[in-house]
Amino acid sequence: MYSPIFMCGKFITQLSNIDNDQINEDVLLRKNMKLDDDETAGNTFTEDSYYPETEACSKLIQEVDKVIQEKINKYFSTYNQWAHILEPNESTMIHTHDSPGLPSHLSWVYYSKTEPNCGNIVWQTTIHNKMISMEETPKVGTLIVFPNWMPHFTKKNISNDIRISISGNAKADEKDYGNIMKDPGGLFEVVGHAG
Ligand SMILES: [Fe+2]
Repeated sequence: MYSPIFMCGKFITQLSNIDNDQINEDVLLRKNMKLDDDETAGNTFTEDSYYPETEACSKLIQEVDKVIQEKINKYFSTYNQWAHILEPNESTMIHTHDSPGLPSHLSWVYYSKTEPNCGNIVWQTTIHNKMISMEETPKVGTLIVFPNWMPHFTKKNISNDIRISISGNAKADEKDYGNIMKDPGGLFEVVGHAG
């Protein structure tokens, strides 16, 4: 019989009933409110902007959490979120969403504005000396959930327009850790099975 030595994955679905035009308008109003203004800090917070708490933006978070809870694990919900506006000729540095002290959990990205060649998301990691790389072409309405520890970057936007994505992280309360071990749903298919 087969059993994994190691496997992890991503969950992809298409969201409908999201007002992408309104989200884009709301996000662009906050365009210059970056999570970190220090360009020399060497992290990706200078590339991320605050996520507005408007009706359209809040509805997206509710819909993302509904998918996570119905399809992956019912104890998980989003605890932070931000917007990412990628201008033509920009790319995003490789990074993870790892939080020191927290167990592996879920990260997600949703695309509200894309163009052909606006920059694929690429996940890249190594197991010993084997390089593992996988990418997806962003499309409006696509939600991708992936392991928070998985390194990823965005290829250069070579379209003539901006690309807008919303990202977040989802975790469970510590009081539910025991319940999760009893009823993990699809959690370990995303964050990883070892053994
Ligand atoms: Fe990211």
